Amino acid sequence: MALRFEVLGRFNRARAAQLTLPHFACQTPLFMPVGTQGTIKGLTTDQLEEIGCQIILGNTYHLALRPTSELIDELGGLHKFMNWPRALLTDSGGFQMVSLLHLADITEKGVTFQSPVDGKPMLLTPEESIQIQNRIGADIIMALDDVVRTTITGPRIEEAMYRTLRWVDRCIAAHKRPHEQNLFGIVQGGLDPVLRDICVRGLVDRNLPGYAIGGLAGGEDKDSFWRVVAQCTAALPEDKPRYVMGVGYPLDIVVCSALGADMYDCVYPTRTARFGTALVPEGVLKLKHNAMVNDTRPIDPTCACMVCKNYTRAYIHCLVTKDAMGSQLLSYHNLYYMLQLSRNLHSSIVEGRFPECYIIPDSNLCASRN
Ligand code: GUN
Ligand code: ZN
Repeated sequence: MALRFEVLGRFNRARAAQLTLPHFACQTPLFMPVGTQGTIKGLTTDQLEEIGCQIILGNTYHLALRPTSELIDELGGLHKFMNWPRALLTDSGGFQMVSLLHLADITEKGVTFQSPVDGKPMLLTPEESIQIQNRIGADIIMALDDVVRTTITGPRIEEAMYRTLRWVDRCIAAHKRPHEQNLFGIVQGGLDPVLRDICVRGLVDRNLPGYAIGGLAGGEDKDSFWRVVAQCTAALPEDKPRYVMGVGYPLDIVVCSALGADMYDCVYPTRTARFGTALVPEGVLKLKHNAMVNDTRPIDPTCACMVCKNYTRAYIHCLVTKDAMGSQLLSYHNLYYMLQLSRNLHSSIVEGRFPECYIIPDSNLCASRN
């Protein structure tokens, strides 16, 4: 194991912890921005450090295609390649193929897909996913899982859950750097509590350094989503990190943290920035709106970020959709907002103020979907 997980405070099921990884000691609850080609679009790694980002997600699938994991390995690993001294996490790649390439096909061997480079059929096996992630060198790597949408029902859910358990054994056997990289297993099983239970128990038996809850945020209703998170966090070990994949909106992170989850990743803050939307305590602010044309206030007068200290809504309104700087400034603010939310969750749990801070008055913290 290449991590230490120390719980610093609790409130009911919520916990605040220090997660010490090979490249950085992170505070949880923890939001992880998502990078694509070894970058968070529009931000430098200095800016990411400045806003207090502790760990970022690299996209195995994109990196494996370009510049390739062999080249990253040859150039000294992804930390060095992208000039990021803090922690990194890579996902296994299968989920991205299934969600991006609708032509992906899953068999017991692995995920077959058409190469977006030359259209040739390619196969990503659990062994290959781990080999690629070993070459990239992130602090946390993810097992290859068989992901099905939660809106599907029937035997496919059960098949995917058992296959995920069989694949995790192939991932464990293929992992060459367990003292430098932490392999997390992923709980699947759709919305079925019996299947989720079998999967959690199976993964806990494998004694991995951390666990993720997968297959969520795929169109299920909030009630079902929270029920699965609550069931999994209750059954996972107290002394290991719990990561809810692909989540989420500010409200989701608050609720999942109350349920005992520790880590999150989502493209939402950066994606919504590119559409001209800022995250603010009241919900969202649409910078494209005509009301912004002569508004001299900052995006959020209560925000301490560089963008809110230096620029007006009117200026960002003028840039948005016209110049890359518009979405860069909005991404900066939005990530700062999510990281500040994580820091507030951490300190409010440590200081015993969690319920006062997060008993949510009507729309507060609740980002509307756009
Ligand atoms: N990202 C969001 N959800 C998932 C999931 O279920 N599995 C993997 N591997 N990545 C994800
Ligand atoms: Zn700001």
